[in-house]
Amino acid sequence: MNNFQFYSPTEFVFGKDTENQAGLYVKKHGGTNVLIHYGGGSAVKSGLLDRIKKSLEKENISYTELGGVKPNPRDTLVYEGIKLCREKNIDFILAVGGGSVIDSSKAIAMGVPYEGDFWDFYCGKKPEKALPVATVLTIAAAGSEGSGDSVITKENGNLKRGAGSDLIRPRFSIMNPQLTCTLPPYQTACGATDIMAHVFERYFTNTTEVEITDRLCEAVLLTMIKETPRVIANPENYDARANIMWAGTVAHTNIVGVGREQDWNSHGIEHELSALYDCAHGAGLAVIMPAWMEFVYKHNVLRFAQAAVRVWGCQMNFENPENTAREGIKCFRRFLHEIGMPLTFAELGAREEDIPALVEKFGIGDGKTGGFVKLSAKDIENIYKIAVSPELI
Ligand code: NZQ
Ligand code: ZN
Repeated sequence: MNNFQFYSPTEFVFGKDTENQAGLYVKKHGGTNVLIHYGGGSAVKSGLLDRIKKSLEKENISYTELGGVKPNPRDTLVYEGIKLCREKNIDFILAVGGGSVIDSSKAIAMGVPYEGDFWDFYCGKKPEKALPVATVLTIAAAGSEGSGDSVITKENGNLKRGAGSDLIRPRFSIMNPQLTCTLPPYQTACGATDIMAHVFERYFTNTTEVEITDRLCEAVLLTMIKETPRVIANPENYDARANIMWAGTVAHTNIVGVGREQDWNSHGIEHELSALYDCAHGAGLAVIMPAWMEFVYKHNVLRFAQAAVRVWGCQMNFENPENTAREGIKCFRRFLHEIGMPLTFAELGAREEDIPALVEKFGIGDGKTGGFVKLSAKDIENIYKIAVSPELI
């Protein structure tokens, strides 16, 4: 196991009706003048936004609202948010929504005290200050409620890029699984795929002797395999929703990834798809991650065979473990198909002729990237090609 530092300062407030405590927690964490940031309307329609406002009013906390965050959040609204926060002297940002709303809030939080262009933080610069951010989560997916990451798309050029800093880790995250019951099945499945992908990015590692994190990863994956079909069959299943919601956070606070090298190429390769086609991140991952697996499994057949046996319940073929590894990848694709995810470029609405542009935008030139297997631009092109017509379906 490698040396590591684990920092996860977020206070998680989990369970039924917890959104009514938003005001109390903002006060506890020092907020007096809040920007409520939200998305395209689901939080308005469900009455959640009204409950949040009421809860803030009860604690005499003033607020300003900024809605309109789109999935794959854009830089243009971030600039608007920064300007608004400065004009109104905002001292706390409350994100009410999913990963997109939270990431937009984190970008605004870094941008307000910064004199330059906030986009600098998405080109590698580290922030020195940020406004405090907290969340009321409405979808189990990105794990942004517990992460120090934010992903924003620059409209000019469709560039989707990430920033990371402990300064943008949420101060608190309110997580009421009931709020996720209004999610359409497709969006639920996209979230489930993202959660599983966050675990697989960590599971496939070159670090040895990491039994604890291997087993934690497997626990999250097994939970997702059990609970996702249950919520798709019955969207109101509170306990299944609750297990998935906590799995989403556990998958991405890095508790399942500490002490081990991680990969993250599937995410980078997917981000180019959601930037270009504006597809859901989870749907893009359903197409890309198994294609990545198909491309890299020979790097460590036994690790893939281990996943097949422990996660998908395959029989180990001791004479030919490669068959077991391949069976595991097939099981992953079968599962994704069963929950309604696309598996190919065509199903996602992506075009084979765009592959050169996707690789170009990925932007690694002659270099290599990734943890488990270092990939060149040519390798990435080949992974996109596998996603056009996968072999292991
Ligand atoms: O905008 P509204 O109307 O709220 O609708 C949203 C949106 O259309 C809807 N939704 C959310 N909660 C709902 C609901 N509809 C009904 N009932 C509810 N309770 O769902 C749609 C998707 O929301 P979004 O926030 O985009 O989903 P998600 O949480 O999957 O976030 C995706 C974004 O997070 C980034 C992705 O790249 C993508 O941009 N990621 C962020 C990460 C991070 N910050 O750590 C890591 C991830 O790997 C990921 O890259
Ligand atoms: Zn993700």
